[in-house]
Amino acid sequence: MSAIDLTGSLEARLLNLRDEVRRRRSFAIISHPDAGKTTLTEKLLLFSGAVHAAGSVRPKKNRGHATSDWMEMEQARGISITSTVLQFEHDGCLFNLLDTPGHQDFSEDTYRTLTAADSAVMVLDAAKGIEAQTKKLFAVCRMRQTPILTFINKLDMPGLEPLELLDEIERVLGVAACPVNWPVGYGGQFRGVVDRATRTLVEYHGGAGGALRPDAELVAVDSPAFDAEVGPALASKVRDELDLLEGATPRFDPEAFRAGTQTPVYFGSALKNFGIDRLLEALVHLAPSPLPRRCLTNGPVIPDKPGFSAFVFKIQGNMDPNHRDTMAVLRICSGRFERDMLVHHARLGKKFRMTRLHRLFARDRETVDEAFAGDVVGVVNPGMFLIGDTLSAEPGIEYDKIPSFEPEHFAVLRCEDMARNKQFRKGVTQLAEEGIVQVYHAIHSGRREPILGAVGRLQFDVVESRMWQEYGARVKAIPVDYFCARWLLADAARLAKVKWPSTGVTLAEDQHGAPVCLFNSKWDLSMLSRENPDIQLSVTGAHAQSRE
Ligand code: G4P
Repeated sequence: MSAIDLTGSLEARLLNLRDEVRRRRSFAIISHPDAGKTTLTEKLLLFSGAVHAAGSVRPKKNRGHATSDWMEMEQARGISITSTVLQFEHDGCLFNLLDTPGHQDFSEDTYRTLTAADSAVMVLDAAKGIEAQTKKLFAVCRMRQTPILTFINKLDMPGLEPLELLDEIERVLGVAACPVNWPVGYGGQFRGVVDRATRTLVEYHGGAGGALRPDAELVAVDSPAFDAEVGPALASKVRDELDLLEGATPRFDPEAFRAGTQTPVYFGSALKNFGIDRLLEALVHLAPSPLPRRCLTNGPVIPDKPGFSAFVFKIQGNMDPNHRDTMAVLRICSGRFERDMLVHHARLGKKFRMTRLHRLFARDRETVDEAFAGDVVGVVNPGMFLIGDTLSAEPGIEYDKIPSFEPEHFAVLRCEDMARNKQFRKGVTQLAEEGIVQVYHAIHSGRREPILGAVGRLQFDVVESRMWQEYGARVKAIPVDYFCARWLLADAARLAKVKWPSTGVTLAEDQHGAPVCLFNSKWDLSMLSRENPDIQLSVTGAHAQSRE
């Protein structure tokens, strides 16, 4: 091959890399259970053409379950425990939708998944507004200044006043809400939304088969045709509300959106296919393509620069019951992955050949020959990957550690058959490494059994079942009533001088050896802080990962 050919192909490859990265949108959906996340996910896939019928989100024939619903326990309980990644294309963009379990018993994985997303769609039920789980997920997005688009769902049902919903977003979440469109009527009287930029009506036509008339004429809100279409009373109310919004809500500011301080708000109904096209459009035009990511060892890593790098944000055990393998799920942060690439493992300080990456579609996997910054892919884990590990083509890159998030449930893990003690200890260590639960060992206390901490209670059932199935150890997770856990940000010298109250707090070490305090009550927590005003108690177990 001539030198000219080589240069040409290098340029072409760089251009290709830049284009591929620019067209990627990696986002997650955050919501409280029942707000409509599953319905919206399905409709996004439907509108983008990734699936052809609602309710058919099943990649292979004869699978009696939806794609993001694949572990045995998930099927038995009809919930989604493990996050999955759905990739689809629309309007020239390639989307990586990181699915976050939204059930009552959601897990730390849900939080960790958000560290791999460049933006999020927050789905609210119009009748309920901001609910508990949305608040928690939002807080994790805020840690990384993740841009958030808001979709207010279920407009076809009676709900709260739209102004009240905007106020709640601002008041409870502390983010400026900027309505891009505005509902005309509600529930039975729901007529559609007005696009604020053009002041035209996007009309809703009932039924599940698609909301927009293809030949719908745009009706200007300020024309008599609007009054004729929705009735004079509603027309006048909407015009008044639009005028009020002009003064009361901020103009959409792309900078503020990207900094996570302003959220554009879209109204719609996922069930009735209303407003999905607008949301998809917003994901194409507003949601960011992969952004530079902070690196501990150097300056920020630029996504479309050659030089593959990625970090592990999830270890998925038991993907395939026939193989009993685990899979490390990676977020690619820069460059391009090519099959058989030599990759440097930052924590182990060694190179290895990465022969296969998998594109994950729930339980199904497909080998990929190349993948780009923004993509989320899986690699079979022969036991060498931990959550937070950095992989890169060249040494010198190490991404921020993924923090351990505040657990809300605690249990003591008891081995019921001491003859299996070795397997018990191995299982506990491995499940902790997978990030299924956090494991603490009490210091200066008679308690020898490991204490588990989890964001969702269901994780304890997962531990019991996997310890038996995979390690042959019968275990019992016995709930303990700690009020909360806080990591002590203090060095050994300071730690030695802490004034401990006589009761109410257990000092422990987490699985990484970091000191954690387990408090019996709110009072005990404030007591320790009062007695030791200079020590820092943190709700996360490592420094928050952040974007640059
Ligand atoms: P989730 O993943 O956030 O938990 O919510 P999911 O999509 O499963 O939706 C929860 C319930 O809300 C479902 O009803 C769903 O059909 C309904 N829903 C979702 N979007 C809308 C909407 O825009 N309008 C209305 N009216 N309902 C909506 P379900 O009765 O629990 O289940 P199903 O029998 O419909 O499957």
